Amino acid sequence: MTADYADHVAAPSPSPGHRCPGPADFPDSPLSQALRQPVLLGLFLPIQAGGWSASTLPRTTSWHFDYNKALTLRAEALGFDLVFALSQWLPKGGYGGVFDGNALDSFMTIGALTSVTSRILLISTLHVLYGPWHPLHLAKFGATLDHISNGRWGINVVTGHRAVEHEMFGWDRIEHDNRYALATEFIEVVQRLWSEPDNYSYEGRSSWRLQGGFVTPKPKFGRPVLVNATGSDAGIAFAGRFSDIVFITSPAGSTFSDAIAALPAHAARVKQSALDVGRQVRTLLNPMVICRETERETWAYHDAIVAHGDDRSPKGFRGFDSDAHAWRGRSGVDADKRRIVGGNIEVIGTPEQVVEQFVRLKRAGIDGLQLSFFDFQPDLDFFGERVLPLMRSAGLRL
Ligand SMILES: Cc1cc2nc3c(=O)[nH]c(=O)nc-3n(C[C@H](O)[C@H](O)[C@H](O)COP(=O)(O)O)c2cc1C
Repeated sequence: MTADYADHVAAPSPSPGHRCPGPADFPDSPLSQALRQPVLLGLFLPIQAGGWSASTLPRTTSWHFDYNKALTLRAEALGFDLVFALSQWLPKGGYGGVFDGNALDSFMTIGALTSVTSRILLISTLHVLYGPWHPLHLAKFGATLDHISNGRWGINVVTGHRAVEHEMFGWDRIEHDNRYALATEFIEVVQRLWSEPDNYSYEGRSSWRLQGGFVTPKPKFGRPVLVNATGSDAGIAFAGRFSDIVFITSPAGSTFSDAIAALPAHAARVKQSALDVGRQVRTLLNPMVICRETERETWAYHDAIVAHGDDRSPKGFRGFDSDAHAWRGRSGVDADKRRIVGGNIEVIGTPEQVVEQFVRLKRAGIDGLQLSFFDFQPDLDFFGERVLPLMRSAGLRL
């Protein structure tokens, strides 16, 4: 791999027609077991400072490992299906304000959680093009985490949308669709290594090369869980070909009323991309849940979060050039306000109102809810006590 990596052109498919069986093809895999739930339930771990909310209202939320480990164990005890963590590379000071840049690495943190949990799925976000990583690295590291976790580990494949991150790794940002072409090549080679019974050789046009590469043990259920997070045509096509789960956003911003109108068509389009190639993907959405016993308490909590808004963070966030399509529905001053609350969609209300909104999201084609909270520990406890039983009564959880 040369230094001018960003100029690389992906090779044509290294394995046309090759199909790597996935965990959803095995009825006893942890993914298949989770998919029996009417709605997947996940927790978006706050391994980065500020979590998702640019507010200084006092709270327990912390990026430290012990805090996130405790959250994961609590989510597992409550019967959640998955936890997930993001990956970001930011210069000194991060986005600014409460988003000060302190963050654990997603791959390492989730990797460490594999050995302290027993049932829950664990998804690491990984920039597969940074480094550059060699496909053999991911094939071997992924197979190892797959075995430690007994098939519960998965990867959220991201390609990096912020120019500053690519520059940190030593090149100008790779063009948007070329990133997905390179990620396609990379993942196809990794899948070969996960499934080939013999040594595997590969020579990319200008990218990766392998001579007699081999990985054993193989992953337990074909391959680890594959996820990607996207809103663009190229990313949706990638999801259709490879992913078990697609992390989507509302194309119309994060307020519930706007999002719910736009989601059915968007979710259907994402799912169709997989059906077109004889596969199935599930859609996952990230609600920020603000919930208290009464409407008055709920909105008082919401208003306090907003009143303590740290304007430095959304302003700094906007200052970083991104070419992502996924968040194009959010812009302007309102986007800054919404970033103080956080989440890709806001679900605000009493326990009954929250469940009612979840029912509407399911009807809109959302298969999974990856929850964020403002104050994770107490809010998750309240959710477990008051909202989860109502989700069961509403037929959203077994
Ligand atoms: C819900 C969601 C979560 C994401 N999480 C991350 C992340 O943790 N790290 C990252 O670099 N990009 C993340 N992304 C960005 C995407 O991976 C992608 O780079 C970006 O959306 C640009 O691709 P697109 O134009 O296909 O949407 C996320 C995107 C979405 C929609």
